[in-house]
Amino acid sequence: MQSSACIFDLDGVIVDTARYHFLAWKRLTDQLGIHFTEEDNERLKGVSRMASLEIILEIGNKKVDESQKQEYATLKNNWYIDYISKMTPDEILPGSLAFIKELKNANIRVAIGSASKNTPMILERVGILELFDAVADGNIVRKAKPDPEVFIKAAEMVGIKPGKCVVFEDAVAGVQAALNAGMMCIGVGSSKILKEAHFVVSGLNEMNLKKLMTIKKDIRL
Ligand code: BG6
Ligand code: MG
Repeated sequence: MQSSACIFDLDGVIVDTARYHFLAWKRLTDQLGIHFTEEDNERLKGVSRMASLEIILEIGNKKVDESQKQEYATLKNNWYIDYISKMTPDEILPGSLAFIKELKNANIRVAIGSASKNTPMILERVGILELFDAVADGNIVRKAKPDPEVFIKAAEMVGIKPGKCVVFEDAVAGVQAALNAGMMCIGVGSSKILKEAHFVVSGLNEMNLKKLMTIKKDIRL
């Protein structure tokens, strides 16, 4: 598998930050008097910060102006940063490190493709920033998933054509972004939710290079 790349979403694939996003949004919604559940939080996975806020305001049936939206997003992000600044390498999800290292040893490029603007901080806190050949994140893209921009950018950064890239994603919008980029997509999570992915595993602990090659052989884009 030379001249190919694996692109990983970060939140929910390599680290379990979804609960920190939830706790921070919950603090904001409690303050605004909006009833916000873990089920609602599912809709925010893979979705950019401002788009998440729009969904939350829609749930609460609240109309606010642009400057207030900025204020709410900043409040939420400051609380979120409080949580992620305390993260440790123990929070890397099982199997991720072993799989990524196996790919690197096989000369396969590895990149991050995440909507999060906090990507560099998280990678640094859990000690894996140096592991990746490229990091494409919310700081360098303009269009949110399901737009393919972040994955196309990651592919460009590692110099591999989209058709030779495999994306690992836990969010419906992320799976769609990968497909829109013309990439193979392995869903990480529930096959009931990630129906559109080419293959689904419950976590990266279920992945290894041999399995990836078998999946790739069975799938034609
Ligand atoms: C995605 C998360 O990875 O990043 C979303 O799944 C989040 O829940 C988005 O809203 C943006 O993150 P941030 O850190 O830029 O607010
Ligand atoms: Mg994710």
